[in-house]
Amino acid sequence: MAYKDLREFMAALEERGWLKRIKTEVSAQLEITEITDRVSKLSGDKNVALLFENVRGYDYPVLMNAFGSYERMALALGVEKLDDVADEIREILKLPYVSLQNKLSVVSLIPMAKRAINFPKYVKNAPCQEVVETEPDLDKLPILKCWPLDGGPFVTLPLVFTKNPATGKRNVGMYRLQKYDKTTTGMHWHIHKNGADNFRDMKAQGGARLEAAVAIGTDPVVTYAATAPLPRDIDEMIFAGFLRHKSVELTKCKTVDLEVPATAEFILEGYVDTQESRREGPFGDHTGYYSLADDYPVFHVTCITHRRDPIYFATVVGKPPMEDCYLAKATERIFLPLLQQMLPEVVDINMPLEGVFHDCVIVSIKKTFPMQARKVMHAFWGMGQMMNVKMIIVVDAHVNVQDLHEVWWRVYNNIDAKHDLEIVEGPLDVLDHSSPMPKWGAKLGIDATKTWPEEGHAREWPEEIAMSEDVKRLVDEKWASLGL
Ligand SMILES: Cc1cc2nc3c(=O)[nH]c(=O)nc-3n(C[C@H](O)[C@H](O)[C@H](O)COP(=O)(O)O)c2cc1C
Repeated sequence: MAYKDLREFMAALEERGWLKRIKTEVSAQLEITEITDRVSKLSGDKNVALLFENVRGYDYPVLMNAFGSYERMALALGVEKLDDVADEIREILKLPYVSLQNKLSVVSLIPMAKRAINFPKYVKNAPCQEVVETEPDLDKLPILKCWPLDGGPFVTLPLVFTKNPATGKRNVGMYRLQKYDKTTTGMHWHIHKNGADNFRDMKAQGGARLEAAVAIGTDPVVTYAATAPLPRDIDEMIFAGFLRHKSVELTKCKTVDLEVPATAEFILEGYVDTQESRREGPFGDHTGYYSLADDYPVFHVTCITHRRDPIYFATVVGKPPMEDCYLAKATERIFLPLLQQMLPEVVDINMPLEGVFHDCVIVSIKKTFPMQARKVMHAFWGMGQMMNVKMIIVVDAHVNVQDLHEVWWRVYNNIDAKHDLEIVEGPLDVLDHSSPMPKWGAKLGIDATKTWPEEGHAREWPEEIAMSEDVKRLVDEKWASLGL
């Protein structure tokens, strides 16, 4: 099911008791963070989405922690569990074998193609433009100062729309915005990201400005799509259309040549000056540390449009687990079938919450040739945003990568420090603080698969301990009588 907008998703959360309205007055300075951080770390029913209805000094309510559990993330994507999306992708990827003899197969592709592709629809009289403010004032938005040492307040769930000046193709990425004053913010697109690419291309062709529009508070699938590591030329709005089984409705901006989600709560329209940069940060980040201040481009807001009674959608990141971990988990599940198309030996992957997207990937493989674990590590390091992964652990097919106890047991027991560690150098996520050099450094691959004789292990490899099936059955039968 596709949500029309953020409100429909909130209604679905509320219906299940997964959203709590907070009527007590709270401050957008640190206090919302402290409450949200505590709630995001509670277990079970107590970890809920929060709607702060009474934010001191602001007219608009603030929605937090809406994606902050496996269940809420699945609800956001309109499925029961995140793997359901992966299963659907697997179905679509099962292309029938087409030959001269079975021409009918081509016809059978049509419903699949219709299901897979939902191009955006363009609409007029959009709700996101019910109010148009041509003298914009960011001070009216309850933009959060999240952590004590933050360089200022930050818009934390912005969908940044730009177009590539050469191809005209749209990009949507989530890049935080530090508010400097009523009309300017930072534009924190990392050097490796597609928004930064569009900016560089505009600068290279001598353009003075790259137009940008920022949507805040959209249907949850559209917000998720902005975080997804898609190849540069794949339109996030077509990807969102695929996930929600329905086209995303877009509308033309009032002052820039961009289209934005018609049912968004807020749209900030403006431009990024190609010659300008300004200090951005520090910012309490999802690594659990403050990301260091650095120079970034500046976003000038020339117009703000919004719904009549807009809801400000935000998140807070910090020591994991927090809300963004579940966005990462959605990506892990959704992109696994695509990864498997390129690396068919991959059985499963786990990006542990503590690894915050880019620090750790555990992967199980069906090993059929020597050094295959190394091949998989290097393939990951050469693929899209996986290039930033700092540690890759490879285990054999039968190891359950979702069980970290099992993974550590295998790693501790299976590795020989001289032969099973692969240390290479390459790009690292901009947020990494451990490397002596910003943006690049060392990465570690751990091959915890069984080492083969062809890989230089001349000794016998021991059998794993396991009880025989007949004894297990016998004990199963007796279990109730044992009173254990
Ligand atoms: C809550 C949240 C905040 C993020 N903030 C940033 C950011 O400030 N800068 C950045 O480059 N990526 C940030 N990301 C990651 C990007 O959104 C992600 O890498 C996305 O794929 C980028 O889109 P692109 O590939 O079109 O550039 C953030 C992700 C999330 C979930």
